[in-house]
Amino acid sequence: MSEKTLAIIKPDAVKKRVIGRIIQRIEDEGFNILGLKMVKLSLEEAKQFYSVHKEKPFFNGLTEFMSSGPVVVMLLEGENAIKHWREVMGATNPAEARPGTLRREFGFSIERNAVHGSDSSQTAQTEIKFFFN
Ligand code: CDP
Ligand code: MG
Repeated sequence: MSEKTLAIIKPDAVKKRVIGRIIQRIEDEGFNILGLKMVKLSLEEAKQFYSVHKEKPFFNGLTEFMSSGPVVVMLLEGENAIKHWREVMGATNPAEARPGTLRREFGFSIERNAVHGSDSSQTAQTEIKFFFN
C-alpha cells in the first residue's frame, strides 16, 4: 500500500554537509519525494513538533538542538513508506543502529541522530500537516 511519511534531515547532518548523500539514499530506496524544503525552526516550533515528548527528560535538549540550525524537511511517498523509512534510518541510538542505516552512518549521539521519521500513520498525518499544506 502506498503511503506518505515525513522525513527530516536534522541540524547535525546539515552541518556535516551530508544532505546530498541522505537524499541520494532516499531516491535509491525508491521513495518519491513529493515535497522538500529547508527551514529553520524556532524553539517554539520545535516544541510544538515534538509535543508528544514534552514530559521526557530529553525534551529541552532535543528542542534546542532541533532549533539550532536549518533542517531539510521532506514529504516521502512509497510502499509502506513509514516503516521503510524507519528501517533506512535505523535505531534511535546510532550506536545501536545496524550498519548501513543512516543513523549508524551519520548520527553522532542518541540526540544528534541525523534524521527523523514519522512512527505511525496518525503521526505521519499530523507531521506532514505541520510542514506542508
Ligand atoms: O526519532 P525516534 O522516533 O527514533 O525516537 P523518539 O523516541 O521518538 O525520540 C525523538 C528524538 O528525541 C530522537 O530521534 C532523538 O533525537 C531524541 N532523543 C534523545 O535526545 N534522547 C533519548 N533518550 C531519546 C530520544
Ligand atoms: Mg519518534
